[in-house]
Amino acid sequence: MAAIFNPLDLTGKTILVTGASSGIGRDTCVVLSQLGAKVVLTGRDRNRLEETLALMQQADHSISPHDVTNHSETSQWMSDIVSRTGPLFGLVHLAGISHTEAIRFLDMDKLEEVLDLNLKSAFSLVKAFRQKNIRSMPEARVVLTSSVSGIRGYPGMAAYAASKGGIIAITRPLALELAKENIRLNCVTPGFVHTEMTIEMQTLLPAKELEAAKQAYPLGLGTPRDISLPICFLLSPASAWMTGQSIVIDGGLTMK
Ligand SMILES: NC(=O)c1ccc[n+]([C@@H]2O[C@H](COP(=O)([O-])OP(=O)(O)OC[C@H]3O[C@@H](n4cnc5c(N)ncnc54)[C@H](OP(=O)(O)O)[C@@H]3O)[C@@H](O)[C@H]2O)c1
Repeated sequence: MAAIFNPLDLTGKTILVTGASSGIGRDTCVVLSQLGAKVVLTGRDRNRLEETLALMQQADHSISPHDVTNHSETSQWMSDIVSRTGPLFGLVHLAGISHTEAIRFLDMDKLEEVLDLNLKSAFSLVKAFRQKNIRSMPEARVVLTSSVSGIRGYPGMAAYAASKGGIIAITRPLALELAKENIRLNCVTPGFVHTEMTIEMQTLLPAKELEAAKQAYPLGLGTPRDISLPICFLLSPASAWMTGQSIVIDGGLTMK
């Protein structure tokens, strides 16, 4: 019988996923395992990473906790991973925090914290990943994570918008630089997805506002799977001619 053609196949590819302990990152690890990838799961909380691991297929994955805001340690941490797993084919950067606060209350330390985790970490991770002894040859892939908050105005979301709009802005120049090294780099730009990150928002918003937010989405609110599958597409051969793109995945929110 002929082998089944699967353009999303990632068999044997080693892929590092940040934010693997929760939400979109957790589901991305599950789908990657179903596509045959060898996943390195990272986050700060080992127990929650173990919970993700328990949901995954096959056994050839590993856990490597790291706080991605420890920028000066990121390169050594990645190098230690590679000494155990071999070169990395992919980097998926999903670790992040949301923050909602009116500008009059926002203090500069909080702004710094949001930018450090959501934006600056993308620099330290990509800088470490692109090194010849870290990523696989002849090709490799990176997927970063933005948000519709980076392309639309929401009151109180300036800090988060700066960090996520920044991801879209850096996607193009980084992709141009990395194309020379045969590394494709894209970002996903999700709308509202049901995860731990949005639980608080859902409990804080008055029922009427929450209903209005839901109504703004022609296809309804998203699930982690709505984002993890496009991430896997961006890692796979099916997107071979794509780089420097921000892929909006938002149930139709921003088409209006
Ligand atoms: N959910 C949405 O509606 C939505 C919409 C647009 C964009 N996004 C973006 O999608 C990404 C994933 O969101 P999510 O909803 O899946 O979030 P989530 O469920 O809250 O998960 C956040 C992840 O980030 C990790 N993390 C937080 N701080 C970290 C640090 N300093 N170092 C390392 N890891 C850290 C957490 O792990 P530990 O706590 O174990 O470290 C956790 O795995 C984020 O970048 C978010 O901004 C989400």
